[in-house]
Amino acid sequence: MPRPHFPLFSKSLLWAIALAASIAALPAQATSPKEQLDAYAAQSGQAPQAARGQEFFTSKHGHDWACASCHTDKPTVEGKHASTGKTIKPMAPAANPDRFSDAAKTEKWFRRNCNDVVGRECTPAEKADVIAWLLTLKP
Ligand code: HEC
Repeated sequence: MPRPHFPLFSKSLLWAIALAASIAALPAQATSPKEQLDAYAAQSGQAPQAARGQEFFTSKHGHDWACASCHTDKPTVEGKHASTGKTIKPMAPAANPDRFSDAAKTEKWFRRNCNDVVGRECTPAEKADVIAWLLTLKP
């Protein structure tokens, strides 16, 4: 029986598909704290202020928790989830190089945590201020 001939499924096309699949498997939005800071600052249209970020992070905003309730007011150390007690890795990039290296992850947690703490999403200016402050911290 003659082998059916499918010109579409040539060897080189299969290689191209395999290559595309492996590229798609790479972290989708690899980035850095500085890049995320710059992006939020650009969205906000103002210069980030580390001192304002510290104030925001360590204050309560009319609800039960501050950011610091889970991340501590010294985020070069490990935090502890205020309700589950689970350990949270340090938030400061100098103490934890994984921080702010994945824009989708950062956005997801900003959304969730800002809703818990502030009762709304954080503004781009608030996000930029927080990252600017975290970048000043050294272990
Ligand atoms: C109830 C506990 C809790 C509170 C309060 C909280 N967080 Fe978080 N946060 C977490 C947990 C859990 C994670 C995900 C685990 C991890 O990344 O280590 C996280 C992750 C994050 C991340 C992801 C960082 C990255 O790796 O890119 C950001 C940003 C963040 N939090 C910001 C905030 C800010 C800003 C506030 C205050 C508005 C806040 N969090 C308040 C528990 C909390």
